[in-house]
Amino acid sequence: MNDQNTRVSEVGQLLKTRLNSLSNKTDILKAVELKALYDEIKTLPSQQRAAFGQAVNELKIELADLAKAATDQTSNLPPIDITAPFGPRGDKPILLPSEQGSEHPLTQELDKILDIFYRMGFSVIESPEIDDDYHMFSSLNFPLGHPARDDYDTFITTQPDKNGQPLIAPAHTSTMQNRVLTQFKDGLEKGQPIAAVIPGRVFRNEDLDARHEHTFYQLEGIYVNRGVHAGQLIATLKTFLQTYYSKELRVKTQPFYFPFTEPSFEFALSCPFCTDGCSVCSHSGWIELLGCGLIHPNVLSQAGVDISQYTGFAWGFGIERLVMMKYGIEDIRYFQSARLDFLRQF
Ligand code: DAH
Repeated sequence: MNDQNTRVSEVGQLLKTRLNSLSNKTDILKAVELKALYDEIKTLPSQQRAAFGQAVNELKIELADLAKAATDQTSNLPPIDITAPFGPRGDKPILLPSEQGSEHPLTQELDKILDIFYRMGFSVIESPEIDDDYHMFSSLNFPLGHPARDDYDTFITTQPDKNGQPLIAPAHTSTMQNRVLTQFKDGLEKGQPIAAVIPGRVFRNEDLDARHEHTFYQLEGIYVNRGVHAGQLIATLKTFLQTYYSKELRVKTQPFYFPFTEPSFEFALSCPFCTDGCSVCSHSGWIELLGCGLIHPNVLSQAGVDISQYTGFAWGFGIERLVMMKYGIEDIRYFQSARLDFLRQF
């Protein structure tokens, strides 16, 4: 075989391999290597031209046939059920044997947490993992430049929202307050209170340690009706915690500040593990668990709720924190560590 023919067959091998990776198979006919072979025909002495030209043409025809066959094969594939857990390999998805996998402990616990709130009359709504400045701050009574924005430092994208502010990874699930209030406010007049819990993944610019992760989960709660007061907030949270920990607990609140509640509280419960101090409660007998308060009138009216008629309460807690306390887990970083020795305990 002379040099030119060797090159035609080398290019042929290369392009046949490339065909596999192309989604549009006929694009192979536009390959620059094929075009270069055609360009070369004109440069050859006339006695070699015919044979080389014929070899190049045969390659093109062969590639065209292969592309067509591959296209037909792709379009004849059975439709893919994108909801199948592990893809279609055979008639049925092949599931991992259940003894080789288990639900993540946070998923297991979240199911229990949501079940308790569901039984208390709350609906469950999820929050997005990318959000805008309005839902993260402005709708929650943190105007631009408000100093409390600094407490919610998070990851920022380069993509702008519709007001030209960068889209952000939300630092809390309170981003859903405005949406939930807006969506359900019409029911208030018909006597249907707004009662929702919102689990979501949230992000913070943190110095990482046993109690701080950059990515974690929160559960937000919102309740709005006529005549709602702080006593109902405390009773709701206490009932939830006693059910979750299957134990009588004492709770206490102390004043705090959040822009989106007035008054705002830090909510603590008596340590579920001891009566006179242990390492979980730092020997104080109390554990500060969450932030809560009565929803600020600016937040309600921003969502179009009539503040002369309705009041509400809200809270937000870190789900890992609750679970860590239940099982005595000492480091929040275990949850995302993919450590099987940790995960297999659940
Ligand atoms: N969003 C607050 C945080 O992440 C927690 C919180 C406090 C949520 C008070 C609330 C609330 O709904 O009323 O720090």
